[in-house]
Amino acid sequence: MRSDYPIGVFDSGVGGLSVLRAMRDLMPEEPVLYFADQGHVPYGPRPLEQVRGFSEAVTRFLLGKGAKLIVVACNTASAAALHHLRQTFPETSFVGMEPAVKPAAERTKTGKVGVLATPATFQGALYASVVERFANGVQLFQDTCPGLVGRIEQGDLDGEATRRIIESALRPMLDGGIDTVVLGCTHYPFVIPLIEQIAGENVRVIDPAPAVARQAKRLLEAGGIKLPPGKRGGVRYYTSGAAAGLQSLLPKLLGENGAVQSVSWDEQTVMVLEG
Ligand code: DGL
Repeated sequence: MRSDYPIGVFDSGVGGLSVLRAMRDLMPEEPVLYFADQGHVPYGPRPLEQVRGFSEAVTRFLLGKGAKLIVVACNTASAAALHHLRQTFPETSFVGMEPAVKPAAERTKTGKVGVLATPATFQGALYASVVERFANGVQLFQDTCPGLVGRIEQGDLDGEATRRIIESALRPMLDGGIDTVVLGCTHYPFVIPLIEQIAGENVRVIDPAPAVARQAKRLLEAGGIKLPPGKRGGVRYYTSGAAAGLQSLLPKLLGENGAVQSVSWDEQTVMVLEG
């Protein structure tokens, strides 16, 4: 495995760009392949088994393109598939996401924490284990924010519909006395300004992306495959949805432009569409 090979990053859609943004800040020299499975977004309401199948196919695609490390930049895919991916691809290092209940439980003063994540993430064993290990004595308020992933996929970060979803998720939590909100879905960091506006300055919002980027860097260093700082690495984008849609959102969500290629699914395999 060579250090100039790219890091593979995937999500159901644009959510993983919040993780990619943190990775670009921390190690801009690294080349990246970013896969948005927008033909299947949202993952959140789907059965875990189906998300596991998508995640395996996408991982296979990224490894086929030479990925040296896979960042599962999606809480739902991590909940559904991280364990399975590590077993299926034992030679590959993976970085996954889990809701940041631990830092939230350490920092809360009121002992009340809100968690925003998808239904599949709340159902998975990963979340149950995080809660069991770290939430002792802390009251958790959970909400799946129905429709929010779709709004963010449309690039609607501050419209009326987006605001209504966030307000109805946060209202019972705020009334219940939370002082911390955990973003358990990688789409949600894009609406932090709105969350902060609604929740007020006494509520801390925890975005796990910087910690995930640091973990990716640690793994690259430990494996001896970290590219030394130098010129900015390129990002290649793939989507199983509409290339033009993703391409037009990149400047807004990531602050960079990029070329996006469409891919198609054939049974269990992802293929690049020519042209
Ligand atoms: N961005 C995702 C997550 O972190 C998936 C959202 C979805 O597709 O429902 O959970």
